[in-house]
Amino acid sequence: MPQAINNWQTDQNSGQGKQPKPQYRSAFRILSSYITPHRKTFSLVAICTVIAIASELFQPFLVKIAIDDNLMAGNNDFSSLLVICAIYLGLSLSGLLFTYLQNNLLQDAGQSIVAKIRKQLFQHITKLSMSYFDKTSSGSLITHVSSDTEAVNQFFNQVLLTLLRDGLTLVSILVMMFYLDATLGLYCLLLLPIIALIAIAFRSFMRTTYQMARTRLSRLVAFVAENLSGMSLIQVFHQQKAQAELYKERNEDYFKANVREIRTQVLFNRTFDLLGNLTIAFVVWTGGKAVLGTTIEFGVLYAFITYIRQFFQPINAITQQWNTLQSATVAVNRIWGVLDIEPEIQDSAKTVKVDYESVQGRVDFNKISFSYGNGSPIFRGLDLHIRPGEMVGIVGTTGAGKSSLMSLLCRFYDVQEGSVNIDGNDVRNIPQADLHRIVGLVQQEPYLYAGSIIDNVRMFDESISREDVIQACEFVGADQLVSRMADGYDTKLSERGSGLSAGERQLLSFARIIVFRPKILILDEATANLDSQTEQLIQRALQVVSKGRTTIVIAHRLSTIMQADRIIVLSHGTIVESGTHAELIELQGVYEELYRHSQGEAAASIEAPEAQTIP
Ligand SMILES: Nc1ncnc2c1ncn2[C@@H]1O[C@H](COP(=O)(O)OP(=O)(O)OP(=O)(O)O)[C@@H](O)[C@H]1O
Ligand SMILES: [Mg+2]
Repeated sequence: MPQAINNWQTDQNSGQGKQPKPQYRSAFRILSSYITPHRKTFSLVAICTVIAIASELFQPFLVKIAIDDNLMAGNNDFSSLLVICAIYLGLSLSGLLFTYLQNNLLQDAGQSIVAKIRKQLFQHITKLSMSYFDKTSSGSLITHVSSDTEAVNQFFNQVLLTLLRDGLTLVSILVMMFYLDATLGLYCLLLLPIIALIAIAFRSFMRTTYQMARTRLSRLVAFVAENLSGMSLIQVFHQQKAQAELYKERNEDYFKANVREIRTQVLFNRTFDLLGNLTIAFVVWTGGKAVLGTTIEFGVLYAFITYIRQFFQPINAITQQWNTLQSATVAVNRIWGVLDIEPEIQDSAKTVKVDYESVQGRVDFNKISFSYGNGSPIFRGLDLHIRPGEMVGIVGTTGAGKSSLMSLLCRFYDVQEGSVNIDGNDVRNIPQADLHRIVGLVQQEPYLYAGSIIDNVRMFDESISREDVIQACEFVGADQLVSRMADGYDTKLSERGSGLSAGERQLLSFARIIVFRPKILILDEATANLDSQTEQLIQRALQVVSKGRTTIVIAHRLSTIMQADRIIVLSHGTIVESGTHAELIELQGVYEELYRHSQGEAAASIEAPEAQTIP
């Protein structure tokens, strides 16, 4: 079964993991460090909230005044009634205005905090070492940057607002109730434990349904994303139906989880409504008796009933936000888990300043030993010394360690024993920014970004002129390809350069390396996707580029490296042969056999193509 389809199977199960337990204290500490710079805005939000709440809560009190002092008193004082109406209207408007202000201010501060976190996270991820990306799936990193930051966003937009507004509303309503009538207020206070009991009873149930819905949604999204990137594979293996079935299953799972979540919420809300209505009935009964017995005024009863109606809304909101608070807490801790990871590869304390212009390009692998993580060793005491300006070809079977050796020179990983030196300086002591300016790598699978050809060649570095880019493209023969494109050098490439063939992508990555003029040039299978005519063009370009530059060329196609000053044959992490093409042919060893094979293949494919057809 193809690799990508296998991955889907494993990924489908990976979404089942339980959410870690939220650690509120650390999450709040982290978030409050972000809130501090926005102190002023948050204080303004608090002021606006207080004014908005006061405006809303004073309205029933105004009606009470109108009822008790005007209507019930029967003094026909229309002018003061009009004043009350005007104030009522004014309060409504002020409630509206300050709620609007409060929302806007909070959005502004909250969004800028979330944008800052997202930026920090992205910058941090780009600094992490390759060993981290070997261990971590890109899917989970995408989740951190997108959904986890979104959960933090919800914290500011919903949780914080609710805690502030509804918490304050609740307290104010209680105060107003006690002010109006202490006995009735006390009865209502007795409600709180009942409400708490209901909320607790529903809480774990609501949390489970909420998290189940979220997990199933992310599984659904991951499934779609993987299918999109492996679309050609699906079509070529006729997997459309099978994948559609799998999607249907996931979709139904999500649908069921969603329905269950909504059902739980509706049940919870209606239970609250019922409790609210029972309370009102109770207040109408006891309060009504009191009004009839003239111990309280009718207006007080009216205001009381209105407050009870308002009393349940914030409690409901706070309970609902509990889940969001939990997922935001988990998200914050997860984001900080990533931010806390130190890159394995770091600039050492005793860095040596390397002047780019004076780099000679001598490369020494001094008895290096290396393994990926805790895996089996790839190199055991490998020794290789490359002179400045030398062109070295490396051949070897698949998995021999050719790319790994180059990764060590680029310091994507550090050796466990021995050292990799450039001009006698350990790469671990060269600042990474300098190192990556000195060493240039064209990889097996060149990567292009969504952007214009110009920007892709100069890697969005505006200091490199358009003319330089065009010159480099002409040099490697990419100009013909560019001239065929609708907007020439300004043609926008789609994601991963998917509008281009593999060979065309390689040509552009060649142009890229020529523009950046590294002192040590590494080509790792960089001509694998080119036809022999284009390869010859690149060969010629390479000869010019490699002058005065240390060049390391890894190739399976031997024609690419025949001209090298020295050819190294690598097998299972050790150098088994070394010498010029002629010397190695004479040696009649591994290289000679490889060469014979390649010649034979070339001849066979010309002379007897039918012999190669698969039965
Ligand atoms: N990131 C990694 N994590 C763990 N093992 C790795 C990693 N990259 C490569 N390896 C292993 O290291 C060995 C050498 O791999 P490497 O990519 O250097 O081979 P190569 O000579 O470049 O092969 P090819 O000709 O196929 O490109 C292989 O056995 C491979 O499985
Ligand atoms: Mg390789």
